[in-house]
Amino acid sequence: MVNNTFKIALDGPSGSGKSTLAKNLAKKYGFVYIDTGALYRTIGLFVARRGIASDDVDAIIACLPEIRIEMKLVDGGGRVYLGGTLIGDEIRTPEISKYASDVSKIPEVRAFLLETQRSIARENNVIMDGRDIGTVILPDAQVKLFVTASIEARAKRRYAELCEKGVETDYESVLNDMKWRDANDSGRKIAPAIPAEDAIMFDNSGMDIEETVNSAVEIIDKVYRK
Ligand code: DC
Repeated sequence: MVNNTFKIALDGPSGSGKSTLAKNLAKKYGFVYIDTGALYRTIGLFVARRGIASDDVDAIIACLPEIRIEMKLVDGGGRVYLGGTLIGDEIRTPEISKYASDVSKIPEVRAFLLETQRSIARENNVIMDGRDIGTVILPDAQVKLFVTASIEARAKRRYAELCEKGVETDYESVLNDMKWRDANDSGRKIAPAIPAEDAIMFDNSGMDIEETVNSAVEIIDKVYRK
């Protein structure tokens, strides 16, 4: 099949500002924004609701056939539906973040979500944010950015985000959760969160949102012509 869509892969650790950057870029270019972490979080939510421990690999694999997960396009963004119900901020809690990180280590879970992610990119110009977009999901993406920032900068951002959402927490716990997730996500055997060979490293530690977006636009504009 001839595939003329334009694909931008944004990978990197949690709190690196990928999603804010991706949303801004999607708006600027009129591309569809896909938050692939939301898919892993939704599997985590399903498993947690079942009362299954996040490290009970066999039980998690056993319930996959029951999970009906869909990504539908609404207002230029992918929305996740679980069993026909729109999923919202219930997947953003620290508990579900841990579940998501654990379920994402299971090869069967990654295989289960592969086609949902790829099919959207076959039919739309996309900006996809995740951990393995440039390496596994869209190895043919025309632009691959590996977005990163110091762990302190990332923890501060995540803490501010959670406070804004009214989630009760403190900076130390957010920092510790982030250290744990960094090790869990980049140390795993399957699809670790590492840059693709042809990815551009993009460190935004000292940058605000506007600077981050402008720098990314400079990179993308060298490749993307309307
Ligand atoms: O981007 P996020 O923090 O919402 O992702 C939640 C978890 O899902 C994260 O710990 C790693 C995992 N994930 C992944 O393994 N692959 C992706 N493409 C996206 C997320």
